[in-house]
Amino acid sequence: MSRQPALRVRDLTVTFGTARGPVPAVRDISFDVAPGEVLGLVGESGSGKSTIGLAALGLHDPARTRVEGSIRLGGDGPELVGAPEAVLKRVRGAKAAMVFQDALDALSPYHTIGAQIAEAYRVHHPQASRKEALRRAAAMLERVGIPAARASDHPHHLSGGMRQRVVIAMALVNDPDVLIADEPTTALDARVQRQILDLIRELQAETGTAMVLITHDVGVVAATCHRMLVLRAGEALE
Ligand SMILES: Nc1ncnc2c1ncn2[C@@H]1O[C@H](COP(=O)(O)OP(=O)(O)O)[C@@H](O)[C@H]1O
Ligand SMILES: [Mg+2]
Repeated sequence: MSRQPALRVRDLTVTFGTARGPVPAVRDISFDVAPGEVLGLVGESGSGKSTIGLAALGLHDPARTRVEGSIRLGGDGPELVGAPEAVLKRVRGAKAAMVFQDALDALSPYHTIGAQIAEAYRVHHPQASRKEALRRAAAMLERVGIPAARASDHPHHLSGGMRQRVVIAMALVNDPDVLIADEPTTALDARVQRQILDLIRELQAETGTAMVLITHDVGVVAATCHRMLVLRAGEALE
C-alpha cells in the first residue's frame, strides 16, 4: 500500500522540565496511522499516553517541555514539532482534534451545547454565518444521537454520556483527518462506555478519520482497534 499515513510520528521524545530536573516522559516513539485506521495506544497510568496525544496537537507548554522528533499530519503536512503557534492553531480542531477523558473540562458551563459546537465550527470557518454554524451544530448533535432540539441545553442538563457525545460532535464538526481520543470512556459507567465506544467507532468508520484511541484498558483496544502500540514507562514495547 502506498497510501500516505494520516499521522506520522517519528522518534518522538518528550522531556518535562521540573523543579527536580528533566523528567523524560516519552522516548523514541514512532508510529503511523493510515486514513480510516484505529491505532490503540495502551499502557498503564503514567506510561506516557497523554503526553503523546498532547504532543500531536502541539499542546505542550514550550517553556517547560522539550519535544524532539517529528510529527506530521498527512504525507505533506507541516512539521508540527517546534512549529509556530500560528501553524498549530490552523491544525488544531481542523486537521486533528482531540477528545479528552472528562467532558466537563472540555465544555463551558455558561454556553449552550449548540453554541459551543457552532463556535468550534466558526473558528475554522470564519466566513460561515452564525445561523449556518448553528445549523451545522444541530446536524452534528443528531449524528451523535442527541435530538437537535436539545441544542439550547447547557452542559449541566446532560448526563455524563451525553456530554461526551457533545464533545465528540465538537471534535468532528470540522471533519478532521485525525482524531485522538484520550480515555474517552474512562469516566463513564460500563453500559454507557460501550455505547460511546460504539458511537466513536461508527463515526470514525463513516468519516474515514484516522484515530488514535488512548486507553489503559486492553479490552477496549481488542473491541475497537486495528492495531496497538503498547507503552511502558515512555517506551514502546512492540
Ligand atoms: N506537565 C508535566 N510535568 C511533569 N511531568 C509530567 C507532566 N505531565 C506528565 N508528566 C509525567 O510524564 C509521565 C507520563 O504521563 P502521562 O503521559 O500523563 O501518562 P498516561 O497518560 O499514560 O497516564 C508520568 O510520569 C507523568 O508524571
Ligand atoms: Mg493519560
